[in-house]
Amino acid sequence: MCGIVGYVGNRNCVATLLDGLKRLEYRGYDSAGIAVVEDSSLHCIKECGKVSVLEKKIGEEWPLWPEKACHIGIAHTRWATHGAPSCINSHPHIDSSGRFAIVHNGIVENYAALKRHLIDHGHTFNSETDSEVIANLISECYNGDIFAATAAALRQIVGTFGLAVISLEQPDTLIVARRGSPIVVGVGNSENLVASDIAAIVAYTKRVIFLNDDDIALITADRIDIRNIDNVPVAREIAKIDWSIDAAEKQGYEHFMLKEIFEQPEAVGNALRGRIDEQNITAILSGLSMTPREMTQINRILVAACGTSMHAGMVGDFFFEDLAGIPTSVEQAAEFRYRNPIIEPNTLIIPISQSGETADTLAAVREAANKGATVAAICNVVGSTIARESGRGVYLHAGPEIGVASTKAFTCQVSVLLLMAVKFARTRRLDRENAKAILDEVKQLPELIRAVLAMAENIRVVAEKYGSADNFFYIGRGYLYPVALEGALKLKEISYIHAEGYHAAELKHGPIALLEPKVPVMALANDIPGKDKILANIQECKARKSPVIATATVGDKEVESLADDVIWIPACSKYVAPIVTVVALQLFAYYVARMRGCEIDQPRNLAKSVTVE
Ligand code: F6R
Repeated sequence: MCGIVGYVGNRNCVATLLDGLKRLEYRGYDSAGIAVVEDSSLHCIKECGKVSVLEKKIGEEWPLWPEKACHIGIAHTRWATHGAPSCINSHPHIDSSGRFAIVHNGIVENYAALKRHLIDHGHTFNSETDSEVIANLISECYNGDIFAATAAALRQIVGTFGLAVISLEQPDTLIVARRGSPIVVGVGNSENLVASDIAAIVAYTKRVIFLNDDDIALITADRIDIRNIDNVPVAREIAKIDWSIDAAEKQGYEHFMLKEIFEQPEAVGNALRGRIDEQNITAILSGLSMTPREMTQINRILVAACGTSMHAGMVGDFFFEDLAGIPTSVEQAAEFRYRNPIIEPNTLIIPISQSGETADTLAAVREAANKGATVAAICNVVGSTIARESGRGVYLHAGPEIGVASTKAFTCQVSVLLLMAVKFARTRRLDRENAKAILDEVKQLPELIRAVLAMAENIRVVAEKYGSADNFFYIGRGYLYPVALEGALKLKEISYIHAEGYHAAELKHGPIALLEPKVPVMALANDIPGKDKILANIQECKARKSPVIATATVGDKEVESLADDVIWIPACSKYVAPIVTVVALQLFAYYVARMRGCEIDQPRNLAKSVTVE
């Protein structure tokens, strides 16, 4: 989704802004632009398409920029919501008096009424966007005090915003504000930066301040003054980012997605580090902040998440019911608040979100909190809104996930869910011996994942054999059913092949009608409970002449004799099989997409972080 970068300081800001925009490209966008204050005027250049196209345009239209004294600026990558992707609709937007430039993430729900009002007061508009209203509203409210004007404008807005503003009225001051859309301030030496995502600024500083909703910050090169919308100063802590810019770079991999797939042994290792209590044979998850007694009182778990995170939650559902005996259900976060969920005093809500900013998941957190539930989030991005609003939870420590298709977040989410389930189960019915067996295998996860990665070349060969299909089915049962859904999601989002994830038993209740020689089936046939039944499902597919690719436990002759092609998975229990198996399916999707020449890290129409409902 849209991205914001801003800079104020001693340097010429153009290169820093462009660099920041490039680091936000992974979020998905259709146009980009920058505005800087230069020689008492606002210099704004925007373009449709990639940041590299914008960079070229800046070079052509403003070749002398490196020699100019432009020390303050804002920049944006836009993902169209109101108004088609176009140069005019892209940000920054400048008010009709030419004094205020803004970049905005979010949606102004009442923009039509505000626009009518502003037009009546003599303002003019160039774009079809809701965001342009904000620039004119600040201009309308300006009476010599930039903070007061911003606050007055934002008070009139119904909707969400992550906002950055520069002006000719106070040309040394960058203003940022947030409500429902993240803004982080990077604290530098004689310079300060702002962004909607740490990745844009981590190359310049690791000291950051996360704004809360309705915070407005006035930022100069050496001062950060944060107040709430009612002009009351607020103290916000400086947090230290624990990952470096290397983590947000490709490091020789062709794509971020491939890098992140290959990072999974380390990522999962980091998610597990320090979290296994060898003495008591349980998990250490201090962020849960729950006593064993409080844990035993939880009698129901609701997971709320979207997309890949929801699939992780579906594996968690098995863990909690199977190991801890706690009735669990997984809700599509988008439906959560609309279906009036039944939340009793002892219900635990677990929102799962890599970004920690997904609008629907955040809304579920708020609904749950309003109903008095205990909320414990699983997030990757430290300081993200869902993590902060949930109050308690577990971070993944997976490092930044840049590829739009989620990979390492999924394996880390499932690993953390397994630890969580073991922790709950140990306060109930899981004995030391069985807990030890599970945790011993959990410790093997990095090695098990490495074993799958070592087969990447074989997986590539199989992927390229089937990569020209137009339709695909992924089937699984039990613990591997959510993995079938996830495998199909990976394939469709990056290769654009229509792929359906199905419970293997459901195939004969309808979709089997679609099977024919041109429709391959990926059958998850690892040697875990349910395998016998999956073998029967493979027979059903073969009888309809669909080619079958199977994931199978290394050395499984039975599956090998039935399937057309086999992707080998190291022997492991049902508990860790989802984590290990999904890695093979990620690689499969990756190689199919690469063979088809797709834009793997930024698939069409997709955004990394979905901050609108
Ligand atoms: C798929 C994918 C999405 C996200 C979903 C939720 O590869 O990345 O389905 O999983 O948009 O995002 P988070 O986890 O950030 O809440």
